[in-house]
Amino acid sequence: METVSKTALITGASSGIGYELTKLFAGDGYNLVLVARNEDQLNKVADELRSEFKTKRVDVIAKDLSNINAAAEVYEETKRLGLEINVLVNDAGVGQRGNFWEIDFSKDLEIINLNIISLVHLTKLYLKDMLARNEGRILQLASIAAYQPTPMLAVYAASKAFVLSFGDALSNELKDTNITVTSLIPGPTDTDFFNKAGAENTVAASKADEPAKVAKEGYEALMKGEHHAVATALVGAQVAMSTVLPNEAVTKMARKYMEEDK
Ligand SMILES: NC(=O)c1ccc[n+]([C@@H]2O[C@H](COP(=O)([O-])OP(=O)(O)OC[C@H]3O[C@@H](n4cnc5c(N)ncnc54)[C@H](OP(=O)(O)O)[C@@H]3O)[C@@H](O)[C@H]2O)c1
Repeated sequence: METVSKTALITGASSGIGYELTKLFAGDGYNLVLVARNEDQLNKVADELRSEFKTKRVDVIAKDLSNINAAAEVYEETKRLGLEINVLVNDAGVGQRGNFWEIDFSKDLEIINLNIISLVHLTKLYLKDMLARNEGRILQLASIAAYQPTPMLAVYAASKAFVLSFGDALSNELKDTNITVTSLIPGPTDTDFFNKAGAENTVAASKADEPAKVAKEGYEALMKGEHHAVATALVGAQVAMSTVLPNEAVTKMARKYMEEDK
C-alpha cells in the first residue's frame, strides 16, 4: 500500500461508483471528504473506511448539490475544517427516463444544477487552490451518453456531453501545470442510478457493469493523469462507433438502450 497523507473530496460518495471510489482512495492511504445528501449513509461509509482501511481522517458534508449555493457551502466548510483538497472527484449525478415533455421542469433543473452547475462551481473553487500549489487531480463522471444523444434520457445525456467537453477543454488549458483532469466514461453500471431514473426495466439496465470495476478503471486513469478512462472494452467499442457513425444512427442506437427490456 502506497502511504500518502493527501485528501480526496468525493461527491456522490454514499453509493454506486462514488462509494467504490472511496475504498480505492482509502486503500492508498488518502484522507477523505464525503459529500452527498444522505448523512446517515455517508456516516456508515465513513465508519467502514475508518475500520477497514484505518483511514486517519474522514469528514462528512451532507449537502444537496442541486441547490445553487451548495458548491460554495461545501468549499467554505472544507476551509473551516482546515482541509487542503488534493483530489476532487465530481461523481454525484442523476437522470430521469421519459419523453422530455413528460418530465417536470423541476427535474430538468435538478439534473442540470447537479450534473453541470455544481460540477463547474466545485471545479472552479478547488482548481484555484490547486493552481496556487501547482498540484492536483480532478476526476469527472461523464458517460457513454456523452457521445450519444439519448432519446428518453435527453437532458441527462446532454449534461454528460457538457461534462466531457468541459473536462477535455480544461485538461488542455492545464497542460503546462501539474494538475490533471480525467473524465471517466462508464457504460450502463449496476448502481441505484437506473432505479432513481425510472429506467430499471430498460435494455441498458440489463447490460450493466460492476461499479467496482468501473471505479477501478477511473481511479487508475486518474492516477496516471489520463484524459479519458473508458470503463470497459465494450464501452470503448461504442465510443469508437459513436464517433464514426452519422449522428442520426447513433441516436437511434442509443434509443434502443432506453427501451423496455422484453
Ligand atoms: N450507473 C450508470 O449506468 C452510470 C453510467 C454512466 C455514468 N454514470 C454517472 O456516475 C455517477 C454516479 O452514479 P451512480 O451510477 O453511482 O449512481 P448512484 O448509486 O445513484 O449514486 C449517485 C450518488 O450521487 C449522490 N447524489 C444524488 N443527488 C445528489 C444531490 N442532489 N446532491 C448531492 N449528492 C447527490 C447520491 O447520494 P444521495 O442520494 O445521498 O444524495 C449518490 O451518492 C453519476 O454522475 C452518473 O451520471 C452512471
